[in-house]
Amino acid sequence: MEFIPLQIATIIPNKKITFDLYIHFKDQYIVYAQAGTKIPPEKLTKLALQQIARFYLTREQEGLYQDFLDSILTEALKSSKTPLAEKVELAAGAAATGIEAMQSEQATPAAYKITQKAAKSLREVIEQNPDALKKIYGKQSDNMSEVIRHCLNVCALCTKLGRKMGVEVTQIDEMGTAALLHDIGLTKLAQKDRALFQKPKKLFTPDDFRIYKFHPIDSAKMLADRPYVTPDIIELVRHHDENNSGTGPLKIKKLTLNECILSICNNYDKRVFTQKITPKQAIKELQIEEVGNYDLKLIKALAQVLSEEGLME
Ligand SMILES: [Fe+2]
Ligand SMILES: [Fe+2]
Repeated sequence: MEFIPLQIATIIPNKKITFDLYIHFKDQYIVYAQAGTKIPPEKLTKLALQQIARFYLTREQEGLYQDFLDSILTEALKSSKTPLAEKVELAAGAAATGIEAMQSEQATPAAYKITQKAAKSLREVIEQNPDALKKIYGKQSDNMSEVIRHCLNVCALCTKLGRKMGVEVTQIDEMGTAALLHDIGLTKLAQKDRALFQKPKKLFTPDDFRIYKFHPIDSAKMLADRPYVTPDIIELVRHHDENNSGTGPLKIKKLTLNECILSICNNYDKRVFTQKITPKQAIKELQIEEVGNYDLKLIKALAQVLSEEGLME
């Protein structure tokens, strides 16, 4: 039997589950709760205290989980009673689950649908709540890898910047999906090269560049092998390290607006977390170091978004 991980944050207490849940313990998958049962909140809290971040389910039941997740997200986002923190937690949990599943060679359409739903949900949470972007950015979570946290940040930021630049909603959601998936190709890096993700680009050696430049192509390839992924998303992913002056890995010069938005959000977020600098410093760097790479108007719009969302203080 094949097991796939899911974030515990996507399991809501006292809500009947439609699939069997497992935990991984001492190299074994053990049934934790059966389909048709509800999990009391104290049991979930106990797991959190034990720092268990993931449940597992069998590949056969992935479709059931996807339907379940779809309906709890829709319900939670509609409800004015659900606190913002819970909505963010749920949407972020869905995003992380989707990304992890899509990193696998055995990814299925269900995993892709989870990712799409997560991107849409993140956009909705952000649009409904003035504090949501700040919450997503400030999320302290040991349950997610740095790559996944970065993808969440980029997705959230793209949504806001896309809105500001007048991109229509369906395209914003495509950008959001692409943002969540843009770095799945990093899983193809040899173990010894994985640390490049944490290294500031300024410190890259020619060898580092040579190795790192393939990951957008690898991400795109992983998606292109899957017939259910739309070509627009694949192009956005493939071009996420490109810029308008053609100094990216593929040397593409003319990017679409949506590609520029994804590229600049990615560039910004990587600066902030690899160099541990403030948003203000990162914007200053973009203004100096990326002249000609991005339209100045776009850099300005990003700065505006960050300050409107209270991230520039
Ligand atoms: Fe990347
Ligand atoms: Fe990235």
